[in-house]
Amino acid sequence: MKLYIDDADTKKIRELMNYLPIDGITTNPTIIARSARPPFEVLREIREIIGHGRDLHVEVLRRDCEGMIEEAHRILRILGDDTYIKIPVTPDGYRAIRALSEEGVRVTATAILSPMQAFLAAKAGASFVAPYVNRIDEMGYDGEGVALSIREMLAVHEYPCEVLAASFKNSMQIQSLCEEGIECVTAPPDVLEALIFNPSTDVSVDRFEQNFRRAYGEDATMLTVPE
Ligand code: G3P
Repeated sequence: MKLYIDDADTKKIRELMNYLPIDGITTNPTIIARSARPPFEVLREIREIIGHGRDLHVEVLRRDCEGMIEEAHRILRILGDDTYIKIPVTPDGYRAIRALSEEGVRVTATAILSPMQAFLAAKAGASFVAPYVNRIDEMGYDGEGVALSIREMLAVHEYPCEVLAASFKNSMQIQSLCEEGIECVTAPPDVLEALIFNPSTDVSVDRFEQNFRRAYGEDATMLTVPE
């Protein structure tokens, strides 16, 4: 399963990438605005941090197909041809997904709330489809179920398109999809941190250290004890 950070805070991205096996960064207009920095300045810095070996997803703002395509070309010119262009699944969005995919642009269809929205984006040529798991949950439906149903449909129809599950608010939403083998998950830093931090783990580590030091001396580690 690929794991992305859904954020544009470059300090946080550097910090998380130090210890988590991160495969890329996803952004959206809200995330970029939250950075309070010029969009291409922050996106260039993210590209610099992750290089071209990891994925960067950037969303367009224009609502018309022609505008989306123009924005996509500008994003690719500035951030590299390997950047994924996020296009929302509106009628103009489907046109843009199709046109850009035919050009060979990597497209991530986004703001997906139902299996058929995803299916049609994949049919139009999207490389990724991004169902918003928590937002679907909040609407009273089953976000994980929608993500899995999309994956099933793409597999049955043999579309070369992966599910990039997004909009997570807690660890269990991610764990359930991980257990089912979802291809890709993107989550904000606090949700990613909550996947691994547990105060009881720290208590265990503290006790190990105290017991070892009591037996072998202050500051003893496996480097200081005799062979
Ligand atoms: O990046 C898109 C998606 O992750 C939105 O998440 O938290 O705004 O529902 P959220």
